[in-house]
Amino acid sequence: MVQLLGVTASAPAKIILFGEHFVVYGEPAIVLAIDIRAYASADMRKDKRVYVKSVDLGISGFFEEKKFHEECGGQTARRTLEPLKIAIQKVLDRSKMDVGVSVKVRSAIPVAAGLGSSAAVAAAVATAVGQLLDLELSKEEILHISYEAERFVHGTPSGIDPTISTYGGVLLYRKDKGFTQVKVKGEIPLVIGDTRVKRSTGDLVASLRKRRKQYPSMIKPLLKIGGKIALRAVKSLETGDLYTLGNLMDINHGLLCAVGVSDISLEGLVYAARGADALGAKLTGAGGGGCMIALAKPNKLAQIVDAIERAGGRAFVVGMADEGVRIED
Ligand code: MEV
Repeated sequence: MVQLLGVTASAPAKIILFGEHFVVYGEPAIVLAIDIRAYASADMRKDKRVYVKSVDLGISGFFEEKKFHEECGGQTARRTLEPLKIAIQKVLDRSKMDVGVSVKVRSAIPVAAGLGSSAAVAAAVATAVGQLLDLELSKEEILHISYEAERFVHGTPSGIDPTISTYGGVLLYRKDKGFTQVKVKGEIPLVIGDTRVKRSTGDLVASLRKRRKQYPSMIKPLLKIGGKIALRAVKSLETGDLYTLGNLMDINHGLLCAVGVSDISLEGLVYAARGADALGAKLTGAGGGGCMIALAKPNKLAQIVDAIERAGGRAFVVGMADEGVRIED
């Protein structure tokens, strides 16, 4: 079904080092692009259809007018592919060409795990289709398009995920003020532990919204402290002070537990990493399952990977990705 695939773009996954959830309420957060990427290939079609295929998820189908025709993937196909259709349509609307496109996605980023898979895919898709249609989209436009796709995935996104997938690097991000780059001294040796528990970011964001409404005098100050931690962490990153960074991660994780977004699967991996001499450990992303991260001295990385795996998680060491979305040769 997919025709000759003309243009390929890729975008990185991310981990939130500090401030997930709090960022939805305007607090600063620190986010880092990692060297796992999503790839999207796009080509023109002779008909007016928008065909989308996710190779790894085994889902495909085409959109024609307002209708979706499933090819593979059953009930979930439309819900999963719709955000990509939104991104593609936004790019098609910017071009004056009356064409259809075929888009094929491949991604090594675990889905629904807190690593920003949906935003990375949307940024790669928008970039590939933009290039295919000779649009020369700016990064700002790509961010805007991926943000719209993200809004479909969960109603009130802060914008942190599409921003880091578009620009890469390490960013201090605020919902209302945008981002500034953080200059990191040295390496940040990190292990990701995947609980393999899938969850919905939208549901977790909604659960905190409810708790904040129920107990505003208690939850709002916790969110503010989260913001203070992120600002303090910028200094530790700039000076390469891994010990303070680890302590701040532990405190941040405590706050995330207090606001109700951790779960037993995450706690198991966080304590396994701490027991194996991690400098600090916390959940990353939306919580409720998904992934945690552990900061380690470089010579302790292997033992932390081992401890997380013995506790039932899938663990891997990750590096930073300086580059955001890009066209592949
Ligand atoms: C999800 O990766 C991060 C959250 O803070 C939601 C958001 O910022 O949109 C939980």
